[in-house]
Amino acid sequence: MPRLVSAARYSLRKRVLVTGGAGFIGSHLCERLLADGCDVLCADNFFTGTKDNIAHLIGRPHFELLRHDVTFPLYVEVDEIYNLACPASPVHYQFDPVQTTKTSVHGAINMLGLAKRVKAKILQASTSEVYGDPQVHPQAEGYWGHVNPIGPRSCYDEGKRCAETLFFDYHRQHGLRIKVARIFNTYGPRMHPNDGRVVSNFIVQALKGAPLTIYGDGSQTRAFCYVDDLVDALIRLMASKDGFTGPVNLGNPGEFTILDLARKVIALTRSGSRLVRRKLPADDPRQRRPDIALARRVLRWTPKTGLDAGLKKTIAYFRGGLAGGA
Ligand SMILES: NC(=O)c1ccc[n+]([C@@H]2O[C@H](COP(=O)([O-])OP(=O)(O)OC[C@H]3O[C@@H](n4cnc5c(N)ncnc54)[C@H](O)[C@@H]3O)[C@@H](O)[C@H]2O)c1
Repeated sequence: MPRLVSAARYSLRKRVLVTGGAGFIGSHLCERLLADGCDVLCADNFFTGTKDNIAHLIGRPHFELLRHDVTFPLYVEVDEIYNLACPASPVHYQFDPVQTTKTSVHGAINMLGLAKRVKAKILQASTSEVYGDPQVHPQAEGYWGHVNPIGPRSCYDEGKRCAETLFFDYHRQHGLRIKVARIFNTYGPRMHPNDGRVVSNFIVQALKGAPLTIYGDGSQTRAFCYVDDLVDALIRLMASKDGFTGPVNLGNPGEFTILDLARKVIALTRSGSRLVRRKLPADDPRQRRPDIALARRVLRWTPKTGLDAGLKKTIAYFRGGLAGGA
């Protein structure tokens, strides 16, 4: 009898699949879902994610790790799917651009197919890059974007755009319950130290006392969202009413120039680093800031972590890693 009781209790837990769960955002999402009482299946091919990111979760009774590439079909029983699998930084997604497009497009088809078979709700981690180099500012969800289809960033931008198309076609054609999040620059502990993203780049350079690399004149702007805020938004989006599909912008609207960020990082790390200038790469957007009115209204969400507070936590993480020889 006691076994029946515990089986019944077990079945009440929501079973959640997180693809790309061993990555930066995915590992924080797995943590949060476990804390919320879910049964979490993390699927990852470890292209950019690592077991270290989720080492503290392995062995927990409601956490399961599966080495799986989303470009292949997956057969599991789940109630919800967060589809995060995709390299996110230009260095990584340009390493094998054909595989990047496959991960976005075939990955979306496979995960949507799974959602259809098991009637799961599915959330896509899309990106602000679907707006390309935007001609309107800030970008609201109604803006269709200004994207180069044949440039070095296109494998990521167009792959994510096609994934959004697939999500909406599965919704219209098969009645799938979908959620599309357009994520803007997110930072925090467990970012890759060498993937060329500006926050991790600056912190690692400052901690090593190396010059901070500024591409262009540093007047281009970016908005930075702390990872805990983003994870909170993803959870709220998944829990939103079935009628709400998105796409919805998720990010922190506080806008900073790259020079502002460099100076903040130098001050917070108390580094003696100086700044060096390099040529701006192709298709680098001049301005990036989310319009999050929709997320505020529908999800009742607003980011809570200011840039200084988030940078301090991220710096502490990288300081630990560098001290450990990472
Ligand atoms: N971090 C950001 O600022 C940001 C901004 C916009 C969108 N996003 C999106 O959020 C998601 C997570 O980004 P992140 O910053 O955590 O990046 P990340 O590189 O740390 O995580 C991506 C994860 O996906 C895994 N992966 C890659 N290809 C795979 C495949 N074919 N099969 C299975 N797993 C695969 C990687 O190993 C990694 O663990 C991505 O889809 C990314 O496009 C992130």
